[in-house]
Amino acid sequence: MKHPLVILLGATLCLALTGASPARAARSPMKATVQKTPFGKLPDGTVIELYTLTNAKGLVAKVMTYGAILTELDVPDRQHQLGDVVLGFDNLDQYLAGDPYFGATIGRVANRIARGKFTLDGQSYTLATNNGPNALHGGLKGFDKVVWQAEPVEVPHGAAVRFSYTSPDGEEGYPGTLHATVTYTLTDRNELRLEYTATTDKPTPVNLTNHSYWNLAGEGDILGSILTLNADRYTPVDDTLIPTGELAPVKGTIMDFTKPMAIGSRLGQLTNNPQGYDHNYVLNSGGGKLAFAARVYEPNSGRVMEVYTTEPGLQFYSGNFLDGTLKGKRGMVYRQHDALCLEADHFPDAVNHPEFPSTILRPGQTYHELTLYRFKVQK
Ligand code: GAL
Repeated sequence: MKHPLVILLGATLCLALTGASPARAARSPMKATVQKTPFGKLPDGTVIELYTLTNAKGLVAKVMTYGAILTELDVPDRQHQLGDVVLGFDNLDQYLAGDPYFGATIGRVANRIARGKFTLDGQSYTLATNNGPNALHGGLKGFDKVVWQAEPVEVPHGAAVRFSYTSPDGEEGYPGTLHATVTYTLTDRNELRLEYTATTDKPTPVNLTNHSYWNLAGEGDILGSILTLNADRYTPVDDTLIPTGELAPVKGTIMDFTKPMAIGSRLGQLTNNPQGYDHNYVLNSGGGKLAFAARVYEPNSGRVMEVYTTEPGLQFYSGNFLDGTLKGKRGMVYRQHDALCLEADHFPDAVNHPEFPSTILRPGQTYHELTLYRFKVQK
């Protein structure tokens, strides 16, 4: 096997870690590092690289060039023990065999587009329908299934890698050549920052997000995790999960997470979507500036994740379609509600809802969004 390439980021002292065991204690202090190792090959022989980011406190994030997928994130619990808090697989072949977007970068357009159709500047576009009657998460081969170019980036207090992908004009039915980047930074303040940019040569919809499945306990279900959402409204949907256009108040309903609430406490009362939550929340910030969006507290481990974003929306998905058939990392079986997703993005089907914040990017503009996950513990 090839020697891992260890890149020192202004380091005087560096530990090149070869992997993270869930029970490993956080180390401190050391310099942040980026390490590159091969993760596998595509059927055409393309080598997929895994970048391991380690911050000064010993937290580890692993991201691969296939789908710019976050495969692992090790953060400390109350006892300072590192544990992996995202779902995923041990090897590339399992990702290639098909998965529900574990850790993936989603594009060009996250979430659903009704009947896979939209009109832009008078021209109609048709996309593949890959989710019932609708288009979902960028199409048959979205950004989660392409190979990204990666380069480490020097940052003052952390470790960072920028992933870039150029989507050709017409790919998956979308107009314009789109240059997209997502930069993952693991800061020494125990934050994972995801910064997105995109430019285009023709008007086109863009709505990028990350589809990590979080489980702050590292195993078991998330029904006891306590969720807070900074959202007074959400977008009700039809039975194919397309927004009706209404922005409905959460107050007095089972959708209300404005105060900390166990995810499982009202699940059985969801009549429109009995499997669980799969709803876009309208963030109170309105988007456009980095603002608090969500907090998850897992009482057994003490782990806390706070989410901040520049996006106007947050899709809260309670892992409803996990059904125990996927065998994940360390032999774990992923059952319904074993993880939750908090996808910071624009609203579903925004391209067909002029009343929603626009997802249209035009030549000369730069798409720029930032989502930050901050990890802490609560005693
Ligand atoms: C979510 C979406 C769910 C489901 C999931 C992937 O983003 O809201 O409805 O499609 O992705 O299984």
